[in-house]
Amino acid sequence: MSRIHRYTGEQVIVEFELGRCIHTGDCTHALPAVFDTKRTGRWVHPDAASADEIAQVCADCPTGALRCVNKETGEAILPVAGKNTVSIVADGPLYVHADLQVNGEPEPTNRAALCRCGASRLMPRCDNSHRTCDFRDAGKVAVPLPSDAPQTGRLSITTTPDGPLMLEGPFSLLDADGNEVCKSGKAALCRCGASNMKPYCDGSHHHIGFKAE
Ligand code: FES
Repeated sequence: MSRIHRYTGEQVIVEFELGRCIHTGDCTHALPAVFDTKRTGRWVHPDAASADEIAQVCADCPTGALRCVNKETGEAILPVAGKNTVSIVADGPLYVHADLQVNGEPEPTNRAALCRCGASRLMPRCDNSHRTCDFRDAGKVAVPLPSDAPQTGRLSITTTPDGPLMLEGPFSLLDADGNEVCKSGKAALCRCGASNMKPYCDGSHHHIGFKAE
């Protein structure tokens, strides 16, 4: 886990994990008075909106970089648990919204952005390297997997050394247009960026000499 910055207000504490943030701008658009990157000094102002509004924006952060904590109880206000989804972002990462563990460790929140271009220096997380390496993939799914799994319960994601992301557990896969293309209990998803069957791994990582833990 990377360093966490804490911003304390009257009712809530906003936690910000810089290593997860890929600057999607969701928070600054939703509540510009609270999440204000233009001001000098601290950029989060937890008393500039209601606790409910701040909790909702933190819950909507697609990477899990923002978390909201009830100041009185000290408990995290997590996004509402629903069905597990893995969403493909065109020319970008996978957004995972799930009861999630990564490499055997439960995640502190149920959102994550995972690299699929192969260039991240924070594997398996996205660090925006898809922009600098000019990764291109429209996020369509040509060959759906069988749809036979329930969509709630824990989703486990494991990184294969020098290979794909192995997903095990219930999830729904959404293409870049938001269409549900399959429900599956198991899948191997490409993280090297070279597969000709994206989002699935087709073994191309062997041919390009992909290296990642
Ligand atoms: S990880 Fe990309 S083809 Fe296997």
